Amino acid sequence: MPIRNRFAELHPDITAWRRDLHAHPELQYDLPRTAGIVADKLRAFGCDSVIEGIGRTGVVALIKGKSDTSRRTIAFRADMDALPIFEATGAPHASKTPGKMHACGHDGHTAMLLGAAQYLAETRNFDGTVAVVFQPAEEGGAGAEAMVQDGLIETFGISEIYGLHNSPLLPLGQFAIRPGAFYAAVDSFHIEVRGKGGHAARPNNTVDTTLAASAIVMALQSVVSRNTDPQQPLVVSVTSFRTESEAFNVIPEQVMLRGTVRSFDMEVRNATIARIERIAALTAESYGATATFGFDEEPYPVMANHEVETAHCVAAAEAVSGTCITDAPRTTGGEDFAYMLQACPGAYIQLGIGEGPGLHHPSYDFNDEVIPTGCSYWVSLAEQRLPL
Ligand code: NI
Repeated sequence: MPIRNRFAELHPDITAWRRDLHAHPELQYDLPRTAGIVADKLRAFGCDSVIEGIGRTGVVALIKGKSDTSRRTIAFRADMDALPIFEATGAPHASKTPGKMHACGHDGHTAMLLGAAQYLAETRNFDGTVAVVFQPAEEGGAGAEAMVQDGLIETFGISEIYGLHNSPLLPLGQFAIRPGAFYAAVDSFHIEVRGKGGHAARPNNTVDTTLAASAIVMALQSVVSRNTDPQQPLVVSVTSFRTESEAFNVIPEQVMLRGTVRSFDMEVRNATIARIERIAALTAESYGATATFGFDEEPYPVMANHEVETAHCVAAAEAVSGTCITDAPRTTGGEDFAYMLQACPGAYIQLGIGEGPGLHHPSYDFNDEVIPTGCSYWVSLAEQRLPL
């Protein structure tokens, strides 16, 4: 059961859909064009029902198989949103909106799941129901959580849910997965350092926030190296250091630091946050300044694959590609499919698109050559999990 011949026929169509989505990127929940196209196509394919507005702008379609003795519904999820990046691919289908770009391949995920939905609605060679789920706001905004809170799992009686992400780190068509923790928990934090501003020529009359904040940045690098079990993966990055003035001769009153923590274990995560708060407060105090810690976005939890469903993904991937990496390395990237896996058994797989610019890079572009493989994977998973 390798790649389906039907997807060789549909390949030009699905490629055209993908490139159209790529040329018209939309952000977060604000997806009127994208979600509209998705819903229109699902109706045109003859899906049994198409429901819009789940999780604000998410779309769900149900496709019933030839029979329903299993009375089960399994779900496949794709993400629809783009990123606030200026595109540098120079491709004919490059973004028409400066500052917005499909730099993570969600255009490809959406197009491949649409292709699979068309095939499943044509053939219906399964027993039960397949729900195809198109979610908003994966790149911040927790669209997966919004869909779950809107009753995604209970409303449609979903008993298993699966996700997929392309990877420019894997050869074209290579699947990779692992059971358990796969994508890191993501925290985004800020630290506001306050002192006493003044003339840079008379620092003795000030409380120098630039110096105190610099000391905090340096000290935070000891959390991973000195406070954390070396067997535990952990990242602490300070990514932004902003003073209120650009002047060379002013010691600023306030400095704002921003950063992120990536972890795979709640105990490690909680200890890390506590340590960051304490280091910031006490380091600032030693310079006569104060530091206030806070979170920016809502944290994303660890995305952990369920063991049994991971094995189902491996079987479907092997049916399509012949092989599947089953001990893929954990990634310190975050993925809000975590919320769906907290609410329902399921698993998330990576699909190689061949070497190229990395995800979120201005030169990244989804590789359309992988489309028949991705579509065939969804169809194989449907037919294997809901056999006639
Ligand atoms: Ni992504």
